[in-house]
Amino acid sequence: MPENLSTVLVVGATGSIGRHAVAEALRNGYATRALVRDAHRASDVPDGAEIVVGDLTDAATLGDAVKDVDGIVFTHGSHGGAADAENVDYGAVRNTLEALAGRPARIALMTAIGVTKRMTGHDWKRRGERLVRASGLSYTIVRPGWFDYNAPDQHRLVMLQGDRRWASDPSDGVVSRAQIAQVLVASLTSAAANHKTLELVADKGLGQTDLEPLFASLESDQVGVLDGVRDTDNMSLADEPGAVRDALDRARGHR
Ligand SMILES: NC(=O)c1ccc[n+]([C@@H]2O[C@H](COP(=O)([O-])OP(=O)(O)OC[C@H]3O[C@@H](n4cnc5c(N)ncnc54)[C@H](OP(=O)(O)O)[C@@H]3O)[C@@H](O)[C@H]2O)c1
Repeated sequence: MPENLSTVLVVGATGSIGRHAVAEALRNGYATRALVRDAHRASDVPDGAEIVVGDLTDAATLGDAVKDVDGIVFTHGSHGGAADAENVDYGAVRNTLEALAGRPARIALMTAIGVTKRMTGHDWKRRGERLVRASGLSYTIVRPGWFDYNAPDQHRLVMLQGDRRWASDPSDGVVSRAQIAQVLVASLTSAAANHKTLELVADKGLGQTDLEPLFASLESDQVGVLDGVRDTDNMSLADEPGAVRDALDRARGHR
């Protein structure tokens, strides 16, 4: 049974996936809000979206972005070192959830295939995933393969679980940017996609318009478990930084 949504926020709206996500949300008839950090970049966002300026690294600036939202699509990402991974990849999720302060919005979070292979950048994205699972909100976590490395006839979407592809190159899987946005936005209203974590790749063949059978074929994440179902158990909470554990406690406290 689809959930009803009216206002969808796209985080990372100026980015290579975010722009597709804005367009897809508009196509689906949502009042679509695009979070940008610099108003001058608004021209990068498809026409029709409401532009809201905010800094992902500062929760205090995100109040207008989350006001009255029913759905949030996270497509942000950093390309820098450890500090950017913490402040942007993870910080965006932590700060947006803190600004949301328990408002029941449906979450679609994009991270990356191979995110459970221990590396600094991956670990911060994975901590963002953990916050979403701990929040008690409805969510879908999408871990795409390599963007736009697909061949022209490679659009048949495949959803995997357990994150076992760790080559860190396109042999892990490939998928088009537009299809990543399609899956993120479709997940927002899919009961079958709720509380699920998936790796998203494409094989040779036509893209599917109805994603429900794919979502329905997946296992749900286990209630109270921080990682995705069947993920490798290789990042113990006890070894996590104190600030990360505190943020998890705050996320649980908003339930
Ligand atoms: N490339 C791949 O094949 C692949 C596969 C799986 C996952 N990923 C992951 O996907 C993520 C996104 O990649 P992309 O190529 O779409 O990146 P992108 O085009 O650079 O988009 C990133 C978005 O995040 C925003 N952002 C970055 N730093 C920010 C900050 N400090 N404050 C506010 N907003 C900030 C950017 O805003 P501005 O426009 O203002 O900079 C932009 O909207 C990356 O983290 C990457 O690891 C990539």
